[in-house]
Amino acid sequence: MFRRKDRIEIKTPDQIAVMRRAGLVVANTLEALREAVAPGVTTADLDAISRESIRSFGATPSFLGYHGYPATICTSVNAEVVHGIPGDYRLREGDQVSIDCGAIVEGWHGDAAITVAVGEVTPADAELSRVTEEALWAGLARALAGGTLDDIGQAVESSVRDQPGGANYGIVEEYVGHGIGTSMHMEPNVPNYHVPGKSLALVVGMALAIEPMVCAGSRAVRTLDDEWTVVTIDGGRAAHWEHTVALTNEGPWVLTALDGGAARFAAAGVASPASRRQ
Ligand code: MF3
Ligand code: CO
Repeated sequence: MFRRKDRIEIKTPDQIAVMRRAGLVVANTLEALREAVAPGVTTADLDAISRESIRSFGATPSFLGYHGYPATICTSVNAEVVHGIPGDYRLREGDQVSIDCGAIVEGWHGDAAITVAVGEVTPADAELSRVTEEALWAGLARALAGGTLDDIGQAVESSVRDQPGGANYGIVEEYVGHGIGTSMHMEPNVPNYHVPGKSLALVVGMALAIEPMVCAGSRAVRTLDDEWTVVTIDGGRAAHWEHTVALTNEGPWVLTALDGGAARFAAAGVASPASRRQ
C-alpha cells in the first residue's frame, strides 16, 4: 500500500541512539494511552492525548498528514485490524482497541502498536492479544545480525501456530512490517509469515518495525469507504502489536519498549544491549 524507499538504510550507533529517543517518545505515549483507555472514552480523546504527549517531548507525530492521514494515532476497535481513524466512537466495556503510534525526533522515526482491553474482555479476546504480542516478541528475538529476514517471519508464524488452537488464527498478509529510520516505511518489507526461497541477510545497523496482525478467524480483510480502516471480512476480532527494533552487535534492542526489551529477552535467554542500558 505504501511506497518504500528502495535501499536498506544502515544506521550508525549514534543514529540508533537518536532512534531510541524517538522510540521512547512512542513508548511513553502508548503508556499514557493504555492508562487512558476506559469505557466512555472516545477514540478522538485518545488522539488528543497522543498529540499532547508527543508534543510534550518536543517530538513530531509521523502519522498526521502521512498520505493524507488525518490523525496522530490509529485506533482500531474489535473487528478493525489496522489504520482505524480516531473519531466520535465511544469505547465500551468489552471492546478491544489496537493503538498505533509513530513519532519523529531529529528526523529519526519510532513506530509501535499495542492492543488494549476496555474493562473486561472475554478470555478469547485476551488470548488473541496475548498470542499476537507473544508472536511479536518471537520475531523481535530473531532480529539478529547473521540471520535472515525470513527467520523473523518464520518465528512470528510458528509462534502463532504453536499456541493452543493456533491453527485457527488468521495471520494478515496484506500488511507487513517494514524497515524504519529516516522514513517511517523503508525497505525491507517484514512479513509475519514464512516466505520460501532466498532471504535477505540481516546485518548490524538495520532497524525494523515488526508488526503482526492476528485475527480470531479468517485472515481475509477489506478496507472501508474511508479508504483507511481495515476490517476483517468475517467480523471476527483482530489484535495488532508492533515494535521498532535495532540490530546491534550485542543483539536486538527494542527501541519502542520502555526497558528496551530487557525483561522479555532475559526471560527468553536472548542477549540484548537492553540488559545493560535502557
Ligand atoms: N504505523 C503504521 C504502520 O504500522 C502506519 C500508519 S500509517 C498512517 O506501519 F498513515 F495511518 F498513519
Ligand atoms: Co509500522
